[in-house]
Amino acid sequence: MSDTWTFVCATGELLPGEKKTAFDDVTGAPIVVFNLDGTLYALEDKCTHEDFELSAGQVDAAEGSVECVLHGARFDIRDGRALCAPAYEPVARFPVRIADGGVWARDDRD
Ligand code: FES
Repeated sequence: MSDTWTFVCATGELLPGEKKTAFDDVTGAPIVVFNLDGTLYALEDKCTHEDFELSAGQVDAAEGSVECVLHGARFDIRDGRALCAPAYEPVARFPVRIADGGVWARDDRD
């Protein structure tokens, strides 16, 4: 488990409707941070179907979801749960915070 926060981007680089990616400084996990109507959410950047990057997918701001470009699975950005096949397992959700003018996240799994 990582107690170290990973810098993702400056706050001004993540406006509503945008997403940014980073790799956790300690665990190397891929992270994607979404700005959904002004609230930030961090998920592991890995579809639970076949591990494709969720950050390549399309965001549906009204539903609060992201759709994997590979086979069309959708996930709730707010909690990571799978919304439709072919994914059934939730994506890991990570803590995110704003500090020192930047957006930070970390892989907090054991
Ligand atoms: S890898 Fe994402 S839906 Fe198949």
